[in-house]
Amino acid sequence: MSTLKLNGIRLNLIAFVLVLSPSLSYCAQKTIKTYGAESVIITPLPKPSPHINGPLVYGCRPGNPFLYRIPCQGERPISFSAKGLPAGLKLDPKTGIITGNTPQKGDYEVFILAKNSKGKDKRKLTIKAGDQLSLTPPMGWNSWYVHYNRISDHLMREAADAMISSGMADVGYQYVNIDDCWSTAGKSHPFTRDSSRIGTIRDVNGNILPNRHFPNMKELTGYIHSKGLKTGIYSSPGLISCCGLTGSWQHEEQDAAQFSSWGFDFLKYDWCYYSKLLNKEPTIEDLQKPYIVMGDALRHQPRDIIFNLCQYGRGNVWEWGAKVGGHCWRTAGDLGFELDRFFNVALNNARFGAWSKPGSWNDPDYLLIGWIGSQNKDDTFTEPHPSPLTAQQQYSYMSLWCLMAAPLIFSGDMSKLDEFTLNVLCNTEVIEVDQDPLGKCGSVILKTDNIFLLVKDLADGSKAVGLFNRGKNTVAVAVNWAELQLSGKHSVRDLWRQKELGTFKEEYNVQVPPDGVVMVRISPHHP
Ligand code: GLA
Repeated sequence: MSTLKLNGIRLNLIAFVLVLSPSLSYCAQKTIKTYGAESVIITPLPKPSPHINGPLVYGCRPGNPFLYRIPCQGERPISFSAKGLPAGLKLDPKTGIITGNTPQKGDYEVFILAKNSKGKDKRKLTIKAGDQLSLTPPMGWNSWYVHYNRISDHLMREAADAMISSGMADVGYQYVNIDDCWSTAGKSHPFTRDSSRIGTIRDVNGNILPNRHFPNMKELTGYIHSKGLKTGIYSSPGLISCCGLTGSWQHEEQDAAQFSSWGFDFLKYDWCYYSKLLNKEPTIEDLQKPYIVMGDALRHQPRDIIFNLCQYGRGNVWEWGAKVGGHCWRTAGDLGFELDRFFNVALNNARFGAWSKPGSWNDPDYLLIGWIGSQNKDDTFTEPHPSPLTAQQQYSYMSLWCLMAAPLIFSGDMSKLDEFTLNVLCNTEVIEVDQDPLGKCGSVILKTDNIFLLVKDLADGSKAVGLFNRGKNTVAVAVNWAELQLSGKHSVRDLWRQKELGTFKEEYNVQVPPDGVVMVRISPHHP
């Protein structure tokens, strides 16, 4: 992004253009200094009155423990109530946390009400008790890109605390997930130079042992659950994980039972060194086998556990990920190694959009914005530092993920959430596009090498459209009704700015900054 120096102050030119240009003069916009560069906040702050967020549909399995914290913005204290809550579930009116046991199979329409001294809000949530989980893409945080082989019980608790105090949980972030490096390495490995993670890998009964940075897994999950949040763990079908710590090879059922009894709600299962056990180029059956084994084991646990397949998109995993019990699967390698190519990664992921549906999500990897670390060529990890992405790139990134119905798993530093990062992560209208109950992935309309639209059909009949510009200059980008198979007057709402733009008969066009996006919702006009 180009910068201009005035009296020694670095000004971001795009910020400058946005502030000065009358056609783009949005009152909610605010330029703040985050780290190194100014970033423009374009989303209005949430109001003090309650605003209930979160998915409209929620899948869970009969008989299993139920835990759901109603995501709700607004000044605390808020008092919550609900009509239509099935027997077996109870709502804490002060915290908005619903707990209990999932009722028998069926759809339960629950009307949630939230009130504070400034106002009230209501929202319908359909609880679908049945076989399906993850009816909308999972949202949460993962430790990898910030803590790597430094992760500990303490850092997990810190992340859970920050998810609540930052307001992320109030817009729907829910899972607090440990990545690699919680188990124990049997011997030294380039990533485990730190000897505190080396030791006995399983007890005499074969139960997997956490390393000494995780003194009591059950207490850790209990702490996270007490906040109404959920928590995830990581393993590998191989003997060892990517970092060389113990995996689940030949202990799959035992580990699934252990993860469940510890209280985990999510498992990322990372291929890593499984190839070493095969000693040949894997066939589709080879690729599927370990996931079938773990998928079955998880389904038999008395807990709802989201199954996240991580095998970098091999064997067209999107075609069979759901069949082996997966809820989401990575469609490519580690995004941390190609962050500068996030547009390409997204466009690649969008090619598999046909497989995106409730309970079955393509995963282009984590949200790498804010403060993130990096992995070095010598197998060391750098401490978190500000994301190299510009403000516009971060808006584009989040828009792409939401328009593709991707899991929204932030993997930056939860202790360094600045105003700008939270603004990008927490826009409720943008998130609503991701969490739309139809579960569609947007389709790409390429206009030129640098300009494209991503068009996502939404459950209420409207369309979310991202108008993207990957070029180095601000350009006009248009979306016309014919290419959306629409005709007649439509209302257009700018989702980042949460602002009605008016009604348009044939098309909408707008100046889009370099590497940037304008994300709109286009709905039939009702005079
Ligand atoms: C692989 C995965 C990453 C992360 C690391 C942990 O590279 O793709 O997401 O889990 O392993 O070692």
